[in-house]
Amino acid sequence: VRIVILSDAVSVAEFAAEEMAAAISSKATSVLGLATGGTPVGAYRQLIELYKNRRLSFSEVTTFNLDEYIGLSPDHPASYRYFMNENLFRHIDVQIKSTHIPLGDVSDLIAECCNYEARIERAGGLDLQLLGIGTDGHIGFNEPGSSLAGRTRVKTLTEQTRRDNARYFSSLDEVPTSAITMGIGTILEAKRILLLATGSNKADAIRAAVEGPLTTSVPASALQLHSATVVVVDEAAAAKLDRHDYYRRSELEGRRLGLIR
Ligand code: PGA
Repeated sequence: VRIVILSDAVSVAEFAAEEMAAAISSKATSVLGLATGGTPVGAYRQLIELYKNRRLSFSEVTTFNLDEYIGLSPDHPASYRYFMNENLFRHIDVQIKSTHIPLGDVSDLIAECCNYEARIERAGGLDLQLLGIGTDGHIGFNEPGSSLAGRTRVKTLTEQTRRDNARYFSSLDEVPTSAITMGIGTILEAKRILLLATGSNKADAIRAAVEGPLTTSVPASALQLHSATVVVVDEAAAAKLDRHDYYRRSELEGRRLGLIR
């Protein structure tokens, strides 16, 4: 796992946007896996700027989001469909029919999960998956205890996750208790993975994910099994990494050898 430690959240956003833009530039029909939450918003802002400056077009891009709350309709202001429309899709030239987010308000949840997997497969799989990380180590809504081979399915949210996300709702009671999420098995099939984390509240989760044992108790630790994962963190989120200096030296070495830009 490549660990990139940058000074602040703005640099993390810039790095992520550049990686995504480079993926689209080299393959206009890229299939991107996208994430919601506070962390990726800065990267989405940068991508919108690149689009406005006519340096990037999303017209042939297909997207799949990681997850959606169960019980919220797509037009609910706290739904992830609403979040993506507001924070990215309506500002760029992506075709809305090419953007996919699980539907959390359907009667047949199992069919919705199976269909989502099938749609990812029909699109040719995910070229690049963007991830955040929960304070409990989750990726998508794969909470601690999730199978490391799981597919898109319904997961019950931990109380920690519900508290973390209560800021998007008027009260904790309104936060849904479950969600549809891509599984860790689905995520690990992405050709490349980019996990972003900023702020000191993510330092424990990042340490456990990167330097701890591979365990269902820290779902993000499954990324240790993936051969093309980049973890991009600011100094605050990197603060508890034992091998901090080594990661910094590895980046310098990679640049010296011309292996990374
Ligand atoms: P955050 O959420 O970006 O809002 O911190 C991350 C996550 O829960 O995966």
